[in-house]
Amino acid sequence: MAVAGTKTFQNYIGGKWVDSDSGETFESVNPANGETIGVFPRSSAADVDRAVEAAKSAYREWRLVPAPKRGEILFRFAQLLTEHKADLTELMSHEMGKVLAEAGGDVQEAIDMSYYMAGEGRRLFGQTTPSELPDKFNMSVRMPIGVVGVITPWNFPIAIPSWKIAPALVCGNTVVFKPATDTPLLGERFVELLAESGVPAGVVNIVHGGGGEVGDRIVRHPDVPVVTITGSRETGVGVMRTAADNLKRVHLELGGKNAIIVMDDADVDLAVEGILWSAFGTSGQRCTAASRVIVHEGVYGDLQSKLVAAAEKMRLGPGWEEDTDVGPLINRGALEKVDSYTTIGKDEGAKLLTGGEIASGNGLGTGFFYRPTIFGDVEPGMRIAQEEIFGPTTALIPVRSFDEAIEAANGVKYGLSSSIFTSDVNKAFRAMRDLETGITYINAGTIGAEVHLPFGGTKDTGNGHREAGQAALDVFTEWKALYVDYSGRLQKAQIDAAE
Ligand code: UN1
Repeated sequence: MAVAGTKTFQNYIGGKWVDSDSGETFESVNPANGETIGVFPRSSAADVDRAVEAAKSAYREWRLVPAPKRGEILFRFAQLLTEHKADLTELMSHEMGKVLAEAGGDVQEAIDMSYYMAGEGRRLFGQTTPSELPDKFNMSVRMPIGVVGVITPWNFPIAIPSWKIAPALVCGNTVVFKPATDTPLLGERFVELLAESGVPAGVVNIVHGGGGEVGDRIVRHPDVPVVTITGSRETGVGVMRTAADNLKRVHLELGGKNAIIVMDDADVDLAVEGILWSAFGTSGQRCTAASRVIVHEGVYGDLQSKLVAAAEKMRLGPGWEEDTDVGPLINRGALEKVDSYTTIGKDEGAKLLTGGEIASGNGLGTGFFYRPTIFGDVEPGMRIAQEEIFGPTTALIPVRSFDEAIEAANGVKYGLSSSIFTSDVNKAFRAMRDLETGITYINAGTIGAEVHLPFGGTKDTGNGHREAGQAALDVFTEWKALYVDYSGRLQKAQIDAAE
């Protein structure tokens, strides 16, 4: 499949593909070999304003389309994603860099989410409840909110847009979507398929461009009452601050510093597999990646040697080659950031066990490849054990007890995912209770969330919201309480009822 090219793409506003107001462009580049994937508009605030206008006007009718009908469009979208799974997977391995199996998983996650939210069209359950007064009926219903600003990252270029856009649409909102500038073509394909599935003009709009121009205008625009963004902690703080003036509903999905705990009663071979998958899958570029491994001293030596040996066997290469285990990082900035943490770790006195360098031999020099990196003898307070690196670097932290393990796991500002390998059911249940994260796995790594459960984290990972599952509906709807009095007289709550 030919995916490299210099075709210039457009924005999609009000059901039409249109040029940007700015006339400026940026390129999407293959992170494995530097080839151009496509040319995209570097849009301006005026483009966002037009998209918001289109979304606002489309909202008037879309909110009145019966939710089951909105769901049927998402069902069709899920079918189209399934039909295009192979080509989207191939494209993702070129534009984003992840290996084919994971790229297929990314598309599958969007398929799952679209089917799930399609079904939600026939639920969107509210409550009915007795009234305190006779001949009166009480209920609550979910109401759409309006135009949703959707700002997505490059690491799950098809899955994450679906987590935000599918629930937003089934709830009756319209969307202005800004995909990441590293993966605009996948964002574009996502919207093309949505349009093909029957989403009416103006209901979904895409505006390409950077966070400074396009993202900022979406967050500031007074007619965008909801903003959902997945990004770094710093970006999240900025968004919240900017959105404060308009009292917007802001949904933030931010960083992680996820830990796997390995107890002395664990199946060490299973733990090694889980760590490899969670630390180096997607080259460590997941919010859920295991960038810390907290190991009981009883198995530390065994685990360390097995893990290092297994990491050294991983094959780096372009994501689209079947035998690749670890693809490139997304861009040069990411490569430099990851490499700088190797220097930081060494300076802090952690022991570099393997990796720690940019990989350039065997034709890798044209891409952004970094060797799977493991630090040993890491102390919980070190920067490599505290800060999100977002690359294939993990830190082994030795501990003497279960309590010390939990304390180390919780001793970071983030709270997305956690895991424990143990054969002791008591420790497993204590971990489920005491690990301060939004997601906890027992005898599995820190990645692999399924779409029908809430996804998100505690502390600085977000602002209390969740995406996916039923919880996602709370971001995209407002509750309305309805009281129907069929008594034929004026009844006064709290007053008549007290008599
Ligand atoms: C992310 O890294 O932002 O659980 C999302 C997982 C995937 C989603 C990760 N299902 O790792």
